[in-house]
Amino acid sequence: MPKIKTVEHLNSIESYDGVKPLDAIAAELNIPVSKIIKLDGNENPYDPLPEVLAALSSLKNIGHYPDPLCLNLIELLAKKENLDANNFIISSGSDELIELLIKAYINPSNSILSFSPTFGMISFLAQVQGIKNISVSQQLLKKESFARYILDEDQFLDEAKRSKIVFIARPNNPDGNVVSEKFIKRLVSLPVLVVIDEAYVEFSDFQSLAKWVPQHENLVVLRTFSKAYGLGGLRVGYGIMPNDIRKVLVSIKQPYNVNIAGQRAAIAALSSPLVDQRIKEMKKTRDWFINQLKMVQKQYKNFWIHPSEACYVLLTFESPDIPKKLYTNFYSKGILVRYYSSSDMINNLRISIGLKENMVKVIAEFKLFLKGGN
Ligand SMILES: Cc1ncc(COP(=O)(O)O)c(C=O)c1O
Repeated sequence: MPKIKTVEHLNSIESYDGVKPLDAIAAELNIPVSKIIKLDGNENPYDPLPEVLAALSSLKNIGHYPDPLCLNLIELLAKKENLDANNFIISSGSDELIELLIKAYINPSNSILSFSPTFGMISFLAQVQGIKNISVSQQLLKKESFARYILDEDQFLDEAKRSKIVFIARPNNPDGNVVSEKFIKRLVSLPVLVVIDEAYVEFSDFQSLAKWVPQHENLVVLRTFSKAYGLGGLRVGYGIMPNDIRKVLVSIKQPYNVNIAGQRAAIAALSSPLVDQRIKEMKKTRDWFINQLKMVQKQYKNFWIHPSEACYVLLTFESPDIPKKLYTNFYSKGILVRYYSSSDMINNLRISIGLKENMVKVIAEFKLFLKGGN
Protein backbone atom coordinates (compact mmCIF):
# COMPACT_ATOMS: atom_id res chain seq x y z
CA MET A 1 0.00 0.00 0.00
CA PRO A 2 1.57 3.36 -0.98
CA LYS A 3 2.07 5.91 1.78
CA ILE A 4 -0.83 8.39 1.98
CA LYS A 5 0.58 11.82 1.20
CA THR A 6 -0.31 15.03 3.05
CA VAL A 7 -1.16 18.19 1.14
CA GLU A 8 2.03 19.45 -0.45
CA HIS A 9 2.57 22.61 1.61
CA LEU A 10 2.68 20.52 4.80
CA ASN A 11 5.74 18.55 3.66
CA SER A 12 8.16 20.99 5.26
CA ILE A 13 6.05 22.22 8.17
CA GLU A 14 7.79 22.91 11.49
CA SER A 15 5.45 21.98 14.29
CA TYR A 16 4.68 24.56 16.98
CA ASP A 17 5.83 22.93 20.18
CA GLY A 18 3.70 24.02 23.08
CA VAL A 19 5.00 24.01 26.65
CA LYS A 20 5.84 20.64 28.25
CA PRO A 21 3.43 19.46 30.99
CA LEU A 22 4.71 20.22 34.49
CA ASP A 23 4.32 16.69 35.86
CA ALA A 24 6.56 15.34 33.09
CA ILE A 25 9.24 17.92 33.95
CA ALA A 26 8.89 17.21 37.69
CA ALA A 27 9.36 13.47 37.06
CA GLU A 28 12.40 14.15 34.87
CA LEU A 29 14.03 16.40 37.50
CA ASN A 30 12.86 14.24 40.38
CA ILE A 31 11.33 17.20 42.23
CA PRO A 32 7.71 17.90 43.25
CA VAL A 33 5.61 19.95 40.79
CA SER A 34 5.21 22.60 43.51
CA LYS A 35 8.97 23.29 43.39
CA ILE A 36 8.94 24.19 39.69
CA ILE A 37 9.09 27.89 38.84
CA LYS A 38 7.33 28.17 35.50
CA LEU A 39 8.44 31.28 33.60
CA ASP A 40 8.43 30.02 30.01
CA GLY A 41 4.88 30.65 28.77
CA ASN A 42 3.94 34.22 29.83
CA GLU A 43 1.24 32.69 31.99
CA ASN A 44 -0.43 34.13 35.06
CA PRO A 45 1.48 32.97 38.15
CA TYR A 46 -1.35 33.27 40.69
CA ASP A 47 -3.76 30.65 42.00
CA PRO A 48 -7.10 30.53 40.16
CA LEU A 49 -9.46 33.40 40.94
CA PRO A 50 -11.94 32.37 43.69
CA GLU A 51 -14.83 33.65 41.54
CA VAL A 52 -13.70 31.32 38.73
CA LEU A 53 -13.39 28.32 41.04
CA ALA A 54 -16.89 28.98 42.40
CA ALA A 55 -18.33 29.28 38.87
CA LEU A 56 -16.66 26.05 37.77
CA SER A 57 -17.77 24.10 40.80
CA SER A 58 -21.39 25.16 40.28
CA LEU A 59 -21.48 24.12 36.61
CA LYS A 60 -24.60 22.23 35.63
CA ASN A 61 -25.84 21.05 32.24
CA ILE A 62 -22.43 20.11 30.94
CA GLY A 63 -24.20 17.44 28.91
CA HIS A 64 -25.61 20.23 26.72
CA TYR A 65 -23.67 22.04 24.01
CA PRO A 66 -22.53 25.56 24.92
CA ASP A 67 -23.96 28.82 23.56
CA PRO A 68 -22.30 29.06 20.11
CA LEU A 69 -22.21 32.87 20.26
CA CYS A 70 -21.30 33.29 23.97
CA LEU A 71 -23.88 36.07 24.22
CA ASN A 72 -23.71 36.50 28.01
CA LEU A 73 -19.96 37.00 27.88
CA ILE A 74 -20.23 39.36 24.90
CA GLU A 75 -22.79 41.50 26.70
CA LEU A 76 -20.38 42.03 29.61
CA LEU A 77 -17.40 42.75 27.35
CA ALA A 78 -19.37 45.23 25.23
CA LYS A 79 -20.39 47.09 28.38
CA LYS A 80 -16.83 47.07 29.72
CA GLU A 81 -15.35 48.39 26.46
CA ASN A 82 -18.26 50.74 25.77
CA LEU A 83 -18.72 49.26 22.29
CA ASP A 84 -21.55 47.54 20.45
CA ALA A 85 -22.11 43.80 21.06
CA ASN A 86 -21.94 43.37 17.27
CA ASN A 87 -18.25 44.22 17.42
CA PHE A 88 -17.40 41.09 19.48
CA ILE A 89 -16.66 37.47 18.77
CA ILE A 90 -15.46 34.92 21.36
CA SER A 91 -12.93 32.26 20.40
CA SER A 92 -11.01 29.26 21.66
CA GLY A 93 -8.03 31.39 22.66
CA SER A 94 -7.14 34.38 20.51
CA ASP A 95 -5.01 32.00 18.39
CA GLU A 96 -8.23 30.72 16.84
CA LEU A 97 -9.02 34.19 15.50
CA ILE A 98 -5.64 34.44 13.74
CA GLU A 99 -6.48 31.15 12.03
CA LEU A 100 -10.03 32.23 11.12
CA LEU A 101 -8.89 35.59 9.71
CA ILE A 102 -6.37 33.86 7.43
CA LYS A 103 -9.00 31.29 6.38
CA ALA A 104 -11.56 33.96 5.61
CA TYR A 105 -9.48 36.58 3.83
CA ILE A 106 -6.39 35.00 2.28
CA ASN A 107 -6.26 33.32 -1.13
CA PRO A 108 -3.21 31.18 -1.94
CA SER A 109 -1.83 34.06 -4.04
CA ASN A 110 -2.08 36.59 -1.17
CA SER A 111 0.40 37.02 1.65
CA ILE A 112 0.22 38.17 5.22
CA LEU A 113 2.70 40.56 6.79
CA SER A 114 4.34 40.65 10.20
CA PHE A 115 7.70 41.70 11.62
CA SER A 116 10.29 39.61 13.37
CA PRO A 117 10.81 38.68 16.04
CA THR A 118 7.17 38.29 16.99
CA PHE A 119 4.64 35.72 18.20
CA GLY A 120 5.46 32.44 16.39
CA MET A 121 1.82 31.42 15.98
CA ILE A 122 1.35 33.94 13.13
CA SER A 123 3.89 32.33 10.80
CA PHE A 124 2.94 28.83 11.99
CA LEU A 125 -0.77 29.28 11.19
CA ALA A 126 0.08 30.84 7.81
CA GLN A 127 2.33 27.87 7.02
CA VAL A 128 -0.38 25.36 8.01
CA GLN A 129 -2.74 27.00 5.53
CA GLY A 130 -0.08 27.18 2.80
CA ILE A 131 0.07 30.96 2.91
CA LYS A 132 3.16 33.13 2.56
CA ASN A 133 4.11 35.18 5.61
CA ILE A 134 6.32 38.13 4.68
CA SER A 135 8.32 39.10 7.73
CA VAL A 136 10.16 42.41 8.05
CA SER A 137 13.24 41.94 10.26
CA GLN A 138 13.65 44.46 13.02
CA GLN A 139 17.05 45.85 13.86
CA LEU A 140 18.52 45.23 17.28
CA LEU A 141 19.83 48.39 18.91
CA LYS A 142 21.89 48.30 22.13
CA LYS A 143 22.39 51.27 24.38
CA GLU A 144 24.00 51.03 27.81
CA SER A 145 22.11 48.34 29.80
CA PHE A 146 19.19 48.14 27.35
CA ALA A 147 18.44 46.64 23.94
CA ARG A 148 15.48 47.31 21.69
CA TYR A 149 14.20 45.96 18.38
CA ILE A 150 13.56 48.81 15.97
CA LEU A 151 11.14 48.49 13.06
CA ASP A 152 11.81 50.25 9.77
CA GLU A 153 8.28 51.66 9.60
CA ASP A 154 8.53 52.95 6.03
CA GLN A 155 9.71 49.55 4.77
CA PHE A 156 6.84 47.89 6.66
CA LEU A 157 4.25 50.31 5.24
CA ASP A 158 5.61 49.70 1.78
CA GLU A 159 5.25 45.91 2.23
CA ALA A 160 1.76 46.43 3.69
CA LYS A 161 0.63 47.88 0.35
CA ARG A 162 1.27 44.44 -1.20
CA SER A 163 -0.29 42.40 1.65
CA LYS A 164 -3.83 41.42 2.52
CA ILE A 165 -3.51 41.16 6.32
CA VAL A 166 -0.97 42.73 8.66
CA PHE A 167 -0.47 41.20 12.13
CA ILE A 168 1.06 43.27 14.92
CA ALA A 169 1.37 42.18 18.53
CA ARG A 170 1.11 45.29 20.74
CA PRO A 171 2.86 44.80 23.20
CA ASN A 172 4.99 42.50 21.11
CA ASN A 173 5.99 39.01 22.17
CA PRO A 174 8.92 38.29 22.81
CA ASP A 175 10.28 41.75 23.64
CA GLY A 176 7.38 43.65 25.23
CA ASN A 177 7.83 46.62 22.90
CA VAL A 178 4.84 48.74 21.77
CA VAL A 179 4.71 50.29 18.28
CA SER A 180 3.40 53.86 18.22
CA GLU A 181 -0.20 54.92 17.62
CA LYS A 182 1.11 57.22 14.90
CA PHE A 183 2.46 54.22 12.98
CA ILE A 184 -0.82 52.28 13.36
CA LYS A 185 -2.71 55.35 12.08
CA ARG A 186 -0.59 55.26 8.91
CA LEU A 187 -1.19 51.49 8.57
CA VAL A 188 -4.98 51.65 8.88
CA SER A 189 -5.10 54.33 6.20
CA LEU A 190 -3.90 51.66 3.70
CA PRO A 191 -6.23 49.16 1.96
CA VAL A 192 -5.10 46.26 4.16
CA LEU A 193 -6.69 44.45 7.10
CA VAL A 194 -4.79 45.49 10.24
CA VAL A 195 -4.88 43.00 13.14
CA ILE A 196 -3.58 44.29 16.46
CA ASP A 197 -2.98 41.48 18.94
CA GLU A 198 -3.42 42.95 22.43
CA ALA A 199 -2.83 39.72 24.40
CA TYR A 200 -0.73 41.66 26.95
CA VAL A 201 -2.36 45.11 26.81
CA GLU A 202 -3.51 44.90 30.45
CA PHE A 203 0.15 45.00 31.57
CA SER A 204 0.94 48.05 29.45
CA ASP A 205 0.74 51.77 30.19
CA PHE A 206 -0.28 52.30 26.55
CA GLN A 207 -3.95 52.53 25.60
CA SER A 208 -5.81 49.74 23.82
CA LEU A 209 -6.84 50.52 20.23
CA ALA A 210 -10.26 48.85 20.68
CA LYS A 211 -11.96 52.26 20.69
CA TRP A 212 -10.67 52.88 17.15
CA VAL A 213 -12.70 49.96 15.77
CA PRO A 214 -15.97 51.85 15.11
CA GLN A 215 -14.05 54.38 12.98
CA HIS A 216 -12.13 51.86 10.87
CA GLU A 217 -13.47 49.21 8.49
CA ASN A 218 -10.12 47.44 8.39
CA LEU A 219 -9.12 47.21 12.05
CA VAL A 220 -9.37 44.08 14.22
CA VAL A 221 -8.21 43.93 17.85
CA LEU A 222 -7.49 40.57 19.49
CA ARG A 223 -7.64 40.00 23.25
CA THR A 224 -7.39 37.01 25.55
CA PHE A 225 -8.39 35.70 28.97
CA SER A 226 -5.17 33.63 29.01
CA LYS A 227 -2.83 36.23 30.49
CA ALA A 228 -4.17 38.95 32.83
CA TYR A 229 -7.23 36.83 33.73
CA GLY A 230 -5.26 33.62 34.28
CA LEU A 231 -7.44 31.32 32.14
CA GLY A 232 -4.81 29.97 29.72
CA GLY A 233 -5.87 26.40 30.43
CA LEU A 234 -9.50 27.11 29.53
CA ARG A 235 -8.80 28.71 26.11
CA VAL A 236 -10.94 31.83 25.87
CA GLY A 237 -10.04 34.75 23.62
CA TYR A 238 -12.03 37.43 21.84
CA GLY A 239 -11.89 39.80 18.93
CA ILE A 240 -13.21 43.34 18.57
CA MET A 241 -13.92 44.15 14.93
CA PRO A 242 -16.33 45.71 12.43
CA ASN A 243 -19.64 43.84 12.29
CA ASP A 244 -19.20 42.66 8.70
CA ILE A 245 -15.86 40.97 9.55
CA ARG A 246 -17.41 39.49 12.71
CA LYS A 247 -20.27 38.02 10.64
CA VAL A 248 -17.81 36.36 8.27
CA LEU A 249 -15.83 34.81 11.14
CA VAL A 250 -19.00 33.65 12.91
CA SER A 251 -20.16 32.02 9.69
CA ILE A 252 -16.98 29.90 9.33
CA LYS A 253 -16.07 29.10 12.93
CA GLN A 254 -16.92 25.79 14.55
CA PRO A 255 -20.26 26.41 16.27
CA TYR A 256 -19.19 25.19 19.72
CA ASN A 257 -15.68 26.61 19.75
CA VAL A 258 -15.79 27.84 23.38
CA ASN A 259 -16.91 25.28 25.95
CA ILE A 260 -19.25 25.91 28.87
CA ALA A 261 -16.46 25.97 31.46
CA GLY A 262 -14.52 28.58 29.50
CA GLN A 263 -17.57 30.80 29.00
CA ARG A 264 -18.55 30.65 32.68
CA ALA A 265 -15.00 31.14 33.90
CA ALA A 266 -14.49 34.22 31.72
CA ILE A 267 -17.75 35.75 32.98
CA ALA A 268 -16.70 35.08 36.58
CA ALA A 269 -13.18 36.46 35.99
CA LEU A 270 -14.64 39.74 34.71
CA SER A 271 -16.37 40.20 38.06
CA SER A 272 -13.23 39.68 40.15
CA PRO A 273 -11.61 42.69 41.83
CA LEU A 274 -8.46 40.56 42.23
CA VAL A 275 -7.63 40.82 38.51
CA ASP A 276 -6.61 44.48 38.63
CA GLN A 277 -4.82 43.96 41.93
CA ARG A 278 -2.76 41.12 40.49
CA ILE A 279 -1.93 43.04 37.29
CA LYS A 280 -0.66 45.92 39.44
CA GLU A 281 1.42 43.50 41.49
CA MET A 282 2.92 41.87 38.37
CA LYS A 283 3.83 45.25 36.89
CA LYS A 284 5.53 46.16 40.17
CA THR A 285 7.43 42.86 40.16
CA ARG A 286 8.41 43.39 36.51
CA ASP A 287 9.83 46.83 37.27
CA TRP A 288 11.66 45.49 40.32
CA PHE A 289 13.06 42.61 38.22
CA ILE A 290 14.30 44.98 35.49
CA ASN A 291 16.00 47.16 38.13
CA GLN A 292 17.72 44.13 39.61
CA LEU A 293 18.81 43.00 36.15
CA LYS A 294 20.19 46.47 35.52
CA MET A 295 22.41 46.18 38.58
CA VAL A 296 23.62 42.74 37.50
CA GLN A 297 24.22 44.06 33.98
CA LYS A 298 26.42 46.89 35.28
CA GLN A 299 28.71 44.29 36.84
CA TYR A 300 28.88 41.67 34.05
CA LYS A 301 28.00 43.69 30.92
CA ASN A 302 27.52 40.54 28.78
CA PHE A 303 23.78 40.97 28.27
CA TRP A 304 21.19 43.65 27.56
CA ILE A 305 17.66 44.09 28.90
CA HIS A 306 14.63 44.85 26.73
CA PRO A 307 12.30 47.38 28.42
CA SER A 308 8.91 45.66 28.66
CA GLU A 309 5.26 46.71 28.63
CA ALA A 310 4.17 43.11 29.16
CA CYS A 311 4.46 40.25 31.67
CA TYR A 312 7.90 39.07 30.54
CA VAL A 313 11.38 40.42 29.99
CA LEU A 314 13.62 39.54 27.05
CA LEU A 315 17.38 39.41 27.54
CA THR A 316 19.90 39.56 24.69
CA PHE A 317 23.32 38.06 25.41
CA GLU A 318 26.62 38.82 23.70
CA SER A 319 26.94 35.24 22.42
CA PRO A 320 24.53 32.32 21.91
CA ASP A 321 26.32 29.91 24.23
CA ILE A 322 25.39 31.99 27.32
CA PRO A 323 21.57 31.76 26.98
CA LYS A 324 21.89 28.08 26.11
CA LYS A 325 23.95 27.32 29.23
CA LEU A 326 21.79 29.56 31.39
CA TYR A 327 18.62 27.84 30.18
CA THR A 328 20.11 24.42 31.04
CA ASN A 329 21.38 25.64 34.40
CA PHE A 330 17.97 27.11 35.31
CA TYR A 331 16.17 23.99 34.04
CA SER A 332 18.25 21.69 36.26
CA LYS A 333 17.07 23.78 39.23
CA GLY A 334 13.42 23.65 38.19
CA ILE A 335 13.33 27.20 36.77
CA LEU A 336 11.74 27.14 33.32
CA VAL A 337 12.45 30.04 30.97
CA ARG A 338 11.97 30.44 27.22
CA TYR A 339 14.97 29.45 25.11
CA TYR A 340 15.02 29.99 21.35
CA SER A 341 16.94 27.89 18.87
CA SER A 342 16.01 29.88 15.73
CA SER A 343 18.95 31.77 14.26
CA ASP A 344 17.42 35.26 14.70
CA MET A 345 16.68 34.63 18.40
CA ILE A 346 19.61 32.45 19.41
CA ASN A 347 21.20 35.16 21.60
CA ASN A 348 17.99 35.70 23.54
CA LEU A 349 16.19 34.31 26.56
CA ARG A 350 12.71 35.36 27.67
CA ILE A 351 11.69 35.26 31.31
CA SER A 352 8.02 35.57 32.28
CA ILE A 353 7.13 37.55 35.39
CA GLY A 354 6.16 35.23 38.24
CA LEU A 355 5.52 35.79 41.91
CA LYS A 356 7.99 38.17 43.57
CA GLU A 357 9.58 35.41 45.68
CA ASN A 358 10.27 33.41 42.51
CA MET A 359 11.82 36.37 40.73
CA VAL A 360 14.08 36.89 43.78
CA LYS A 361 15.27 33.30 43.28
CA VAL A 362 15.82 33.89 39.54
CA ILE A 363 18.03 36.91 40.24
CA ALA A 364 20.02 34.97 42.87
CA GLU A 365 20.56 32.01 40.51
CA PHE A 366 21.41 34.32 37.61
CA LYS A 367 24.11 36.03 39.71
CA LEU A 368 25.52 32.66 40.76
CA PHE A 369 25.62 31.54 37.13
CA LEU A 370 27.43 34.67 35.96
CA LYS A 371 29.82 34.57 38.92
CA GLY A 372 30.76 31.01 38.01
CA GLY A 373 31.94 32.36 34.63
CA ASN A 374 29.07 30.46 32.95
C1 LIG B 1 1.14 37.88 21.31
C2 LIG B 1 0.30 36.71 21.70
N1 LIG B 1 -0.94 36.60 21.20
C3 LIG B 1 -1.74 35.56 21.53
C4 LIG B 1 -1.30 34.58 22.39
C5 LIG B 1 -2.16 33.39 22.66
O1 LIG B 1 -3.29 33.73 23.29
P1 LIG B 1 -4.43 32.64 23.54
O2 LIG B 1 -4.03 31.84 24.71
O3 LIG B 1 -5.63 33.50 23.78
O4 LIG B 1 -4.57 31.82 22.28
C6 LIG B 1 -0.03 34.64 22.92
C7 LIG B 1 0.42 33.57 23.82
O5 LIG B 1 1.51 33.45 24.26
C8 LIG B 1 0.80 35.73 22.56
O6 LIG B 1 2.04 35.83 23.02
